[in-house]
Amino acid sequence: MIRTILHYPDKRLREKGVPIAKITPEIEALIDDMAETMYAAPGVGLAAPQIGVALQLFVIDVAEEDEASDLRVFVNPEILERHDSITWTEGCLSFPGVQEDVERAARVRVRAQGRDGKWFELEAEGLLAVAVQHEFDHLQGQLMIDHLGPLKKRLVDRKMKRREAAHASAD
Ligand code: NI
Repeated sequence: MIRTILHYPDKRLREKGVPIAKITPEIEALIDDMAETMYAAPGVGLAAPQIGVALQLFVIDVAEEDEASDLRVFVNPEILERHDSITWTEGCLSFPGVQEDVERAARVRVRAQGRDGKWFELEAEGLLAVAVQHEFDHLQGQLMIDHLGPLKKRLVDRKMKRREAAHASAD
């Protein structure tokens, strides 16, 4: 089922995700919904707080359009190591129409549980590393706007608030 993606400045995007104690059938259904919602958007990542579910869970698929899908599920993730830095032009499904340069670690090592509940470790670089850090941020209630300088931050904040106001009056 495709879920509604919350847009900034929705306050629920600031909630920290709670750890998931057990992969229940409900959690599996949530993972399916998140993947479906991400692919439909379309986007390369989606975190549970973005659909109003404050849990430690995100999904990522950074496969190119001409490649087979490569869904990765991260439950209770931890970033163990961050190396070097890279500036990437990022978007976010909670900030429609916004693309801004964000500085991130160029490489990360992340530990998480998969859909089967088993722990895994992953070394990532490039887009995958950026996506892991971006989605991990969502689980802490952190958003891409928090990485911008004061001027850019104000511009994006104003743009998003105007956009939400326009949608509210059109409804
Ligand atoms: Ni995002």
